[in-house]
Amino acid sequence: MEEIKNNALYIGGVRAQDLADQYGTPLYVYDQGVLENKLEQFIRSFRSDRFKTTIVYASKAFLCTAMARLADRYGIDLDVVSGEELYVARQAGFPMERIVFHGNNKTLDELKAALEYGVGTIIVDNAQEARRLASLPVSKPTTVLLRVNPGVEAHTHEYIVTAHVDSKFGVLKDETDAIAAIIDCVEANPNLRFQGFHAHIGSQIFDRNAFKAEIETMGRFLAGMKQKTGRVFPILDLGGGFAATYTSEDAPIPVKEVGPFILEQCAAIDDEYDLGLERILIEPGRSIVAEAGYTLYRAGYTKTTPHKRYVFVDGGMSDNIRPALYQAKYRAEAAEKMNEEKTETYCIAGKCCESGDIVIENAALPPIETDDILVVYTTGAYGYSMASNYNLLRIPAVVFVKDGRSSLVVRRQTLEDLVARDAGDAL
Ligand code: LLP
Repeated sequence: MEEIKNNALYIGGVRAQDLADQYGTPLYVYDQGVLENKLEQFIRSFRSDRFKTTIVYASKAFLCTAMARLADRYGIDLDVVSGEELYVARQAGFPMERIVFHGNNKTLDELKAALEYGVGTIIVDNAQEARRLASLPVSKPTTVLLRVNPGVEAHTHEYIVTAHVDSKFGVLKDETDAIAAIIDCVEANPNLRFQGFHAHIGSQIFDRNAFKAEIETMGRFLAGMKQKTGRVFPILDLGGGFAATYTSEDAPIPVKEVGPFILEQCAAIDDEYDLGLERILIEPGRSIVAEAGYTLYRAGYTKTTPHKRYVFVDGGMSDNIRPALYQAKYRAEAAEKMNEEKTETYCIAGKCCESGDIVIENAALPPIETDDILVVYTTGAYGYSMASNYNLLRIPAVVFVKDGRSSLVVRRQTLEDLVARDAGDAL
């Protein structure tokens, strides 16, 4: 939790200025208490007498070994979408049977690694992938789901909608012959157990009716598949997409309401079509980590142009691509001037060589001086995980804070790291 004491911001009981001084800036700070609350809220809100429910944290939002272990501590499963995420989960000692492996183009090596490690669930995306997976030796029973495109579009930013009819993800729900063939193909391998379907309708979804539409569509689809194949599919994975609060304009559905709502809808389709549903999975990413994360920057120079007043910070699009990529909005404060009057409007710009490298277009702040620490809120999702070395800026460190203590969970890249992979000379 954050608090203000003597004009200064404290995150998890630690003064933001002290974190900046100790670990350097830019710095990703996660309030571990908030992470734990979110993990717990999801578990609590998706409890059900009727279904077995599994919360699968979508690690693409933010993954490092500390995060994987924290999820494990709360009994949350892990969604990975690459051999790389799988590797990190494994290094963290995350139980492989609780991994859900996603991705529209898993390579042969990735599939082999998943089978070798004993990944519990593989979500097949298309017919060719199903064929390839089924052709491999599988030494222990492995759950397989198929990603279906329900054609439901969640009304959120266009770039992060994944369920339109031409989506690269999944097989369109209407292609039932192709889907039946995929099931047969998977089950030709004696250790692959085809158990059901997955759908994901987008990200940063505010409207609960989008989930209702998804579940109703999946209900009709499952009823059709039951009729076609004469069998039931016990697992339904509804994907992620639960929204987080970035600015005062965002009003996400509270987790404690979204769980019961979704479970109610699942029960309704199960009753209506007699689907034999046993297990419901959801895959929240952003909603678990976004609000727990803060980015600390050190202010550099300020500059006034005819229509703008800039304050430059020591990071930018290299540690948070979201404003440039999605016009994402954030909120900022000056960490040691929390109660001062916000008399100025600044454009907070990064230091990358790109005009679009703006963190916040219009931030109301007190007058900022060089070396002031600026804190940008809600950067916990898709910030670190989408960071780049553009302009060879070093990827910042990640620190967890709780009860007045801090722990460095990922160190800042060093200058040596930047040449560590350089392997030879030009011809
Ligand atoms: N499951 C699947 C299959 C997904 O594709 C995603 C996100 C999730 C779960 C988790 O969704 P969440 O709960 O985090 O919304 N880079 C974008 C977000 C891309 C989301 C892609 N898929 C951003 O920064 O807004």
